[in-house]
Amino acid sequence: MIFKNTYSIDNIRKYVVGIDKKVMLHNGKKVNYINLDNAASTPTLQPILNKVNSFLEWYSSIHRGTGYKSKISTKVYEQTREIVTNFVGSNNDNVVVFVKNTTEAINKLSYRLGLTKNDIVITTIMEHHSNDLPWRNKAKVLHSKVLDNGELDIKDLEHKIKINAGKVKLVTITGCSNVTGIVNDIHYIAALCHKYGSKIMVDAAQLIPHRKVNMKGNKKDDYIDFIAFCGHKMYAPFGTGVLIAPKSVLIKGEPEYVGGGTIISVTKYNTHWADPPEKDEAGTPNVVGSVALAEAIKVLQEIGMRNIQKHENTLTDNLITELNSIKGITIYSPSNTKNSIDKVGVISFNVKDIPHNLVASALAYEGGIGVRSGCFCAHPYVHSLLKISNKDIVQFQKRFLLQDMKETPGMVRASFGIYNTINEIKTFIKMLKYIINNKSVIFDKYILNANTGEYLPKNLPKNIFTEFML
Ligand SMILES: Cc1ncc(COP(=O)(O)O)c(C=O)c1O
Repeated sequence: MIFKNTYSIDNIRKYVVGIDKKVMLHNGKKVNYINLDNAASTPTLQPILNKVNSFLEWYSSIHRGTGYKSKISTKVYEQTREIVTNFVGSNNDNVVVFVKNTTEAINKLSYRLGLTKNDIVITTIMEHHSNDLPWRNKAKVLHSKVLDNGELDIKDLEHKIKINAGKVKLVTITGCSNVTGIVNDIHYIAALCHKYGSKIMVDAAQLIPHRKVNMKGNKKDDYIDFIAFCGHKMYAPFGTGVLIAPKSVLIKGEPEYVGGGTIISVTKYNTHWADPPEKDEAGTPNVVGSVALAEAIKVLQEIGMRNIQKHENTLTDNLITELNSIKGITIYSPSNTKNSIDKVGVISFNVKDIPHNLVASALAYEGGIGVRSGCFCAHPYVHSLLKISNKDIVQFQKRFLLQDMKETPGMVRASFGIYNTINEIKTFIKMLKYIINNKSVIFDKYILNANTGEYLPKNLPKNIFTEFML
């Protein structure tokens, strides 16, 4: 019997919840929404919503409940850990801790490594703030450099790991950039870390929806020690994040949040902690979110991560080729589609003489296209890609502190999900060309809010955002 998959890269679009929603433009007209902001968060898929809905009929308290539904809910919750473990090629020495997002996962780890200011944590300039700021108040943080084209400067990283061998407790690095889409060679870096006595943490928030992740690695020393990611970038926006860590690490020390669920026994005088992962999941966990994540994993596996990668590569190459053909566009990542740098479908660019936030607003209000603009929670990386001097950054900061956001550094970012199409890129490019060719009309039509940095059309229909009401 030939087993036929229900979900494939060719049919997944029809399962995207809300794909048929029309959105209002500045003139009251409605058009199909084009979502090119998947790097921030993805929509959910019908099978995931169905699974959540059917689980809710069985939902009850987990762990200590004795009733039938509690037993079912507890079993399901523990099964979701197994599904996550298998998806990322983790092993039985590790535990899956559910948290609320990637940021919380990384913060948790930063509290749980027993770091002191004598320890060194190496991160990189290309990180999202969530994989930079949590480390700064716990250890001495070194930032590995990036090259002019946005790639990680691997020689600099290697040098920093080598000369600080013995003191580096952790190298913490993004699987791929949320600004340029550049994929880091995490297993090569893992082997380096282990050779010089450090552990490695991979922020896989952007990588995991696009590529097969295998924590075990392929060789003896290139395994990943810790990984963090979230459901909301992989079609399960139900408030679940994941930290995977060796049990031997989490068994030590005290969790940063304590309370219900984290202990074996408490008296007035002492506390015996439960084993991880329970020790690190204080309070009632988000079982519904874990069910959604597990179902998302099943759907992605059925489509096949290789098929996802192939489809997204086609979209990325197409958009880069189109952008390269427009005069006045600067793409902030290696933009030759034939080069060997591995990238996911995240492309940031600027249009000459039109501020990034005006381009993004015009795409939304003229064309119903959702992108993102600004620095994408990666200020140091964006500053370096834009080649802004330290002196100018200080000037910007002074103005921002006075709520003067008239001029903010940044870029426009388009990012793909599994369901985007070449036709959507065509519409996007057509709209971008319209904005460029009608620059003065656009400047005239939009007004800048100097306190927020947002451009809005001077005239907007009163009912524009009433499509969904509570
Ligand atoms: C690379 C990277 N790391 C971390 C985060 C933070 O993720 P979360 O919103 O799940 O906390 C993001 C979100 O954009 C990201 O792109």
